[in-house]
Amino acid sequence: MKRQLLNYAAVVILSASVTTSQAQTYPSRLLQNEPQIESIIKSMTLEEKINMLHGKNMFSSAGIPRLGIADVEYADGPFGIREEMEPHSWNSANLTTDSATFFPTGSALAATWSTEWAYAYGKGMSREARLRGKDMILGPAINIQRIPTGGRTYEYLSEDPLLSGMLAVAYTRGSQDDGTAVCLKHYALNNQEDYRGFVDVRISDRAMHEIYLRPFEMAVREADAWGVMAAYNKVNGRWCSENEHLLTTVLRQQWGFPGMVISDWGGVHSTVDAVTAGMNVEMPGSRFMGQALLDSVKAGKVSEAVIDQRVREILRVRLTVKPVAKEVANSLPVGNPEEMATALEVARRSIVLLKNEALLPIDLKRVKRIAVIGENAVTKMALGGVGAGVKTRCEITPLEGLQTLLGNSVSITYAPGYKSFDRESRNKRMIPQQPADRQLMAEAVEAAKKADLVIFFAGDNREVETEGSDRKSIMLPSGQDELATALAKANQRLVTVIVSGGPVDISTVNKVSGALLASWFNGSMGGKALAEVLTGKVSPSGKLPMTWPNRLEDVPAYTTGTYPQHIDNNNQGDIFVDITRNRSNDRRQQLIANYAEESLVGYRWYDRKQAPVAYPFGFGLSYAQFVYSNLEVQPTSEGFDVKFDLANTSAVDAEEVAQVYVSRPSSKIERPVKELKGFQRIALKAGERRTVTIPVRRADLCHWDESSQSWMLESGAMTVLVGGSSDSLPLNKDTAIF
Ligand code: BGC
Repeated sequence: MKRQLLNYAAVVILSASVTTSQAQTYPSRLLQNEPQIESIIKSMTLEEKINMLHGKNMFSSAGIPRLGIADVEYADGPFGIREEMEPHSWNSANLTTDSATFFPTGSALAATWSTEWAYAYGKGMSREARLRGKDMILGPAINIQRIPTGGRTYEYLSEDPLLSGMLAVAYTRGSQDDGTAVCLKHYALNNQEDYRGFVDVRISDRAMHEIYLRPFEMAVREADAWGVMAAYNKVNGRWCSENEHLLTTVLRQQWGFPGMVISDWGGVHSTVDAVTAGMNVEMPGSRFMGQALLDSVKAGKVSEAVIDQRVREILRVRLTVKPVAKEVANSLPVGNPEEMATALEVARRSIVLLKNEALLPIDLKRVKRIAVIGENAVTKMALGGVGAGVKTRCEITPLEGLQTLLGNSVSITYAPGYKSFDRESRNKRMIPQQPADRQLMAEAVEAAKKADLVIFFAGDNREVETEGSDRKSIMLPSGQDELATALAKANQRLVTVIVSGGPVDISTVNKVSGALLASWFNGSMGGKALAEVLTGKVSPSGKLPMTWPNRLEDVPAYTTGTYPQHIDNNNQGDIFVDITRNRSNDRRQQLIANYAEESLVGYRWYDRKQAPVAYPFGFGLSYAQFVYSNLEVQPTSEGFDVKFDLANTSAVDAEEVAQVYVSRPSSKIERPVKELKGFQRIALKAGERRTVTIPVRRADLCHWDESSQSWMLESGAMTVLVGGSSDSLPLNKDTAIF
C-alpha cells in the first residue's frame, strides 16, 4: 500500500528533465601547448605528417626526428608492461631487462571495488612504463562483461558501468598523474572474442550510452584520458576504426576528447573513411594510412586540414608525456618493492569468499596436515594464451604462498589431481572439457584421505581464458567436477579455490565443498595474498564484479539467442592470426550480434526476470560481521549524500564494501529494477562503528534520451537501497530528486 501511494505521488511530481553538460568536466591537460603545436604543424611537410599516422614498429609510431620530437612508444597493458618484441613481429626480443610486475588482472582489480587501489594500480603501471621507456599504456581494458565466456573477461572489469567507470577513472588518474598516457580499450562494444574481427554489433542508442559507453565516457570526461583504442568490430554497420558516430560525434563532440585514437592491431579497413572519421594512428603497419593516405591527400580526397587535425591530436599527447631517453629505457630494474606491494594489496582485497561452513580461516591448532590438490596451485598465470602477458621476475603460486606462510607448522602434501588444458592441448585442438585423469585422481584422493583439510585449486588458466576466442562452456575444465566429488567423498573438510578470470559453473563444487573462494588471475603476489586469506591473517573482502550464473543458458545473451552467433562459412581464425601472418584482415563477413537484451546486462537481467543465480553481483563474505543502520539521504548540489552507520560487530579487523543501489519503480521510462549508483570500501577494526557517507551524483542518475541525444535527469521519486551485496540490502529509504 505504502509503495502504491508513493508511486502515485511520484507520477504527479514528475517534472521537466534537465540535460547535463556535454564536455569534459574540467579543461584537459592536453590543451596546454596549443601555440607551440600550431607552429610545429606549420613547419612540417605533408610527408612528415603522414609519417606520424601509422605504426613505425610493432609498438611505436613516429615522431618528427628533424624537430627532435620523439616517437610514441606503446605498451600492452593492461595488467603489466609487456615484454619487448622484435620491431616487426610478435617474437620476443629476448631481452633480460624487460620484466615487470604482474598486477592482478581486470576482474581481480574490479573485485576490490576500490578506487584508491585502482589509482595505485594505475600509478604502479605508469612507474614501470617509464622505466621501460613507454609513453602510452594500452589499457585499462574496460569493455562491459556481457557474457561470462568472453575470452577477455579476465582483462575487463565488470558487468556494471558505474563500477567499471569509477575504477577506470581511478586507474587513468593514477597513470596520467605519474606521467604516462592511458589508452582506453576497446572502443567500443568489443564484448566477445569469437569473430571479433568482423562482428557487427547492433544495439539501441540508449543501451549503448548507459551501459557500454559509460565507462569510456567517465574516463574521458572525469579523468581526462589521453588515448583511446578503436575496437576491431563494427557497431551499427560501421567498423569502429572508421565509425564517425563513435569517433567524432560521441568521443570528440559530446565528451570533448582532445586526445588521440589508435587502431587495434590490424583493425583499420580504409584510408579516407578512417582518417576523416577520427582515426589518428593505424597500428602496427601502414597499409591504409601510409602511402595510400599520402596519395589520397595529393588526389584531393582528404584535405590537409584533416591531416593537420589528426597530427595536432597526436602532438597534444606527445608534448604532454615526457619522452624517456632511449638509452635509459630498459636499463633499470623493474618489478620493484613498491609495485609488488601494490600488487599484493590489490590481491588481498580481490579474493571473494563465496561460501564458508566454518572451515575458514584455517584453525592451525587443529589442522596439521593439508592436502593441496590441483595444478592451479602451482600454475603461473602471468603468461599464456593469445595476447598480452607479463614477463615477471616473481609470481608466487598458491602452493608457494601456503608453504612460506605456514613453514614447518603444518605438513603440506601436493598432488596435481588433473592435467591442465595447456598450449599443447590447444595446438592439438583438444577442448578444455577433457575427462578426469584416473591416475592423477586416485593419487589426489589418497592424499586427501590422509589430511586434516583439503584445499582444491580448481578453475581455468590462461590457455582456457584467452584473447582471440571465447570459452565454449563455463563448466570446470579437466574433469574437475568429478575430482571434487571424489575428494569430498574422501574428506569432507574440502575448501575449493576457483582460479579464473570469469565465472565458472560451480554447481558441483559448491555442493561438495565446505568453503568456496574466487581468487582470479591474481598477479605476482596472488599466492601470498591467498595464503593470508585462508589462514585469517587477512579477512576476505572482495565482492563479485559480475554475476556468477547457475548455468550458461541463464545468461541474457544466451537466453535471447543472440550469442553464440553462427555463420555458414565457418571462417574460423582470429584477426590476430592475420596480423601475424601479414594477411588481409578484411573478411567482409556479414555477422550480426544483436544485443536484444538492451540494458539488461548481468544483474539487471536476473533482477527483472527474477531468475536465480549461483552468486549475485556484489556478493562476498567476510570473517567479520557487519551491521548496517540509520540510513539518511541528504540533498547536495551534486545530487545527494547517502549516510548510514556501519559497525563491525566481530572480533576481527576487516574491510567491507558498502553498495548503494537506486530503484525507480514509478519512473515514466523503462528502467532496471535497481542500479548501482555508489559504493565505498571501508576498513573497520574489530568492534568499530562508523558513519559512512557515499555521494550519489546527478550525472549517474541520468538516462540517455534518444530523441535529444543527451543525458536527461528525470525528476521524481526513488528508493535508495544500501547493503553489502546486490541481494542483501538491509537499509532503504524513499526520496526524490528534482
Ligand atoms: C589486442 C589489443 C592489444 C594489441 C597489441 C590486439 O590484438 O586486441 O588489446 O593492445 O593487440 O598487442
